[in-house]
Amino acid sequence: MNRALITGITGQDGAYLAHYLLKKGYEVYGTYRRLSTPNFWRLNYLEIFPKVKLIPVDLTDPSSLGEAITISRPHEIYHLAAQSFVEASFQTPVSTAHMTGVSVVTLLEAVRTLSPESRFYFAGTSELYGDSLGGSPAKLNEDSPFKPVSPYAAAKLFGLWSTEIYNRAYDLFACTGILFNHESPIRGLEFVTRKIANEVAKISVGLSDQIRLGNVEAKRDWGYAPEYVDAMWRMLQADTPRMYVVATGETHSVREFLDVACAEAGIRADKYLKNDKSLHRPLDVPALVGDHSRITRELHWKPKTRFDQLVKNMVREELSRWQRYLKGEVFPWDVPSYPDGHGIIRRVRGRAQ
Ligand code: NAP
Ligand code: GDD
Repeated sequence: MNRALITGITGQDGAYLAHYLLKKGYEVYGTYRRLSTPNFWRLNYLEIFPKVKLIPVDLTDPSSLGEAITISRPHEIYHLAAQSFVEASFQTPVSTAHMTGVSVVTLLEAVRTLSPESRFYFAGTSELYGDSLGGSPAKLNEDSPFKPVSPYAAAKLFGLWSTEIYNRAYDLFACTGILFNHESPIRGLEFVTRKIANEVAKISVGLSDQIRLGNVEAKRDWGYAPEYVDAMWRMLQADTPRMYVVATGETHSVREFLDVACAEAGIRADKYLKNDKSLHRPLDVPALVGDHSRITRELHWKPKTRFDQLVKNMVREELSRWQRYLKGEVFPWDVPSYPDGHGIIRRVRGRAQ
């Protein structure tokens, strides 16, 4: 049986990837960290909570990353865990550098020494391109220059080059996916797509009367997250490790996202939108659009969900959540709990077996 280790299984991509790999018959190990409030709602939502094996890891604790490899003996490692919110990286640049950048080398060192045959995927990002489009309508591909404009992207660039170096220096099967934005109903609430979907749904059911946004002219290439975890898996099944852009090839502004979302919720965008200067970033990537032709040609991956469909699906899901909330229903995925031993692999004296 194939074994996979996913760092950051409690995040959007980690949860979808775990679901995807379980369906393929993998034994799935995932790392989580202890928080004051348990955070397993996505695993509950996808109904995979008892099916994955959980290993406590903090990205800033090298011993825990090494232990995760010793315990899981993975054929494939997907390094998804990171401080992933660009805006927060301006508030906490040093810890972002540790979690999003340095953790990649820590994990690669553990792979080199403990499990050099494991295949390693690193979660790269379109944020690496920063403002390299410079107003041009060209699509970004694997040869486009990287010009990061946030501490988050600078940390990811360190991770990307470290992955390349470990591939070349130690012959590890290690590669980076340059994923453009991908969204879903289980996206973190602070990211703009889920924030908009959630807020318009609340307005529509009478629980809010405004939506505060920052730079609504920013443009992104937004895809549907479950399709993007399939691209990650394909990269680790390839004959050779390569960098791939994963994108839809279309770009839309935050304002367009808001307009489609409001139309779906039956409200008027101009009535509720409030521009909030405090939500503008010190530097922002103005526009992103990706060229997925390499991964389509070589690994037969293609985006399926179109922009309008993505927005509408996200809004419908939020509407349904808030309507059920108003009826007094409790969602099983909202009830926080630690699994109390169940599914969690604890450390023991000596080397993990
Ligand atoms: P996410 O929802 O924010 O998930 C991040 C995961 O990392 C969570 O499981 C989180 O744990 C974990 N994590 C954060 N800090 C940690 C720490 N100190 N120790 C241990 N675990 C920690 O992000 P995502 O959207 O799934 O993205 C997955 C990866 O792809 C990230 O590396 C992100 O930067 C990258 N990426 C995402 C996109 C996108 O559009 N979604 C695009 C390009 C690249 P908690 O649940 O405990 O917070
Ligand atoms: N979050 C947020 N909240 N963004 C806003 C808001 C707001 O209220 N108003 C406008 N925006 C703009 C941001 O300034 C940015 O230009 C755009 O909306 C998208 O912001 P996010 O949804 O936070 O995503 P991101 O593009 O910065 O980063 C995401 O995608 C990257 C891939 O390009 C994250 O998932 C990163 O982890 C990922 O690497």
